[in-house]
Amino acid sequence: MAKKVEIPALDLKREYDFLRKDIARELRSCFESQQWILGEKVTQFEEKAAKYLGVKHAIGVASGTDALLLSLRALAIKEKNKEYFDKKDEVITTPFTFVATAEAIVRSGATPVFVDVNLATFNICPGEIKKAITKNTVGILPVHLYGNSCRMDEILKIAKENNLFVVEDTAQAFGGTYSTKGACLPARQGSASGGKGKKLGTIGNCGAFSFFPSKNLGGCGDGGLIATNNIRLAELVRILRNHGQIKKYNASYIGYNSRLDSIQAAILLVKLKYVDKFNQLRREIAKKYNEAFKDIKQLQTPKPLTINHQPSTINQQPSTINYGHVYHLYTIKVTSGRDELLKFLNSSGIDTRPYYPILLSKMKAFKNCKIKGDLKNAKDLSKKILSLPIHPFLKDEEIDYVISTVKKFFKK
Ligand SMILES: Cc1ncc(COP(=O)(O)O)c(C=O)c1O
Repeated sequence: MAKKVEIPALDLKREYDFLRKDIARELRSCFESQQWILGEKVTQFEEKAAKYLGVKHAIGVASGTDALLLSLRALAIKEKNKEYFDKKDEVITTPFTFVATAEAIVRSGATPVFVDVNLATFNICPGEIKKAITKNTVGILPVHLYGNSCRMDEILKIAKENNLFVVEDTAQAFGGTYSTKGACLPARQGSASGGKGKKLGTIGNCGAFSFFPSKNLGGCGDGGLIATNNIRLAELVRILRNHGQIKKYNASYIGYNSRLDSIQAAILLVKLKYVDKFNQLRREIAKKYNEAFKDIKQLQTPKPLTINHQPSTINQQPSTINYGHVYHLYTIKVTSGRDELLKFLNSSGIDTRPYYPILLSKMKAFKNCKIKGDLKNAKDLSKKILSLPIHPFLKDEEIDYVISTVKKFFKK
């Protein structure tokens, strides 16, 4: 009997085979030093990550969720002079994301306000953000979903006009860039030179990154990072990650035990060297999928932002060339038959998943959050999206098998 084809959504074993020697060397030096919490490896990684991202400060924390939470807590202290936001303080975000985005807003004391996304990019729509602003709005939390940039120039313009902070959820987009004509951001917003050609997560006041193992830059456990150009924000995050202590054994704020482990930093030091190469491999796979699926009328392939065309209303379509997308996930919209295609691919050995099937605005945990508008596109997407396998070690024959199986389904 022929062996059943199994194509996982992600294959970390192949990546480990490729990095085995480098990882062993880094881990050995970690064990030799016996420094486990913060320490030299973490400092080295923070310096290298700051250089890679082009920011003044990169601060390692225990997870991407903590990176969001500590960013928000630090902004409450810095901008509002209070330890936590109040419930009446509103942070505008997308309902079409992972739980952690809105969870962090609630844990910082504020209330998430969910607005709709663009139907082509799947990302928060600046036009909808504008409509949701009230006298209680304190900030905007855009998510660069699947590795595709939000429309940052418009978002920064809205933030500037309304004196709001911007925290970028860059959990899925390490290495991605925003390469459009950027609006200028005043120094207090964190970046003096605007959004042009910048790494995602370095455009707003700060960016929150996740090193969850499946991410484009993933550790061997949990980890996260906050990137910022603002020295006060960086200082507050460093204090909050270490129990709110400015001086040892004397807490100034209610903080967290949220430090990046030396072991994670050692692994990340190895993987950072390859992140551009791995992201490029993801783009090449995406290109093959795009080309193969372009004539299937029931499929909409990912639509990255482009230099020339950026949608600011929920129904505009951008064109398809952009080198800034890092394809953390390759997510298609299936206009009819999504669930049947999902079953067909899974039964053919292809690990395919819907990210995300339930909007945050529909979850019990977020029942006290606010919703602005009808979230029409987000609702539609949650029923129609599907993520196909994509990772740097996917073999040509596996890509071909995914393509031929998808085509077979639509020919039935
Ligand atoms: C969009 C988004 N935000 C935040 C997070 C939280 O990151 P972590 O799992 O490292 O806490 C994730 C990770 O899954 C994510 O995908």
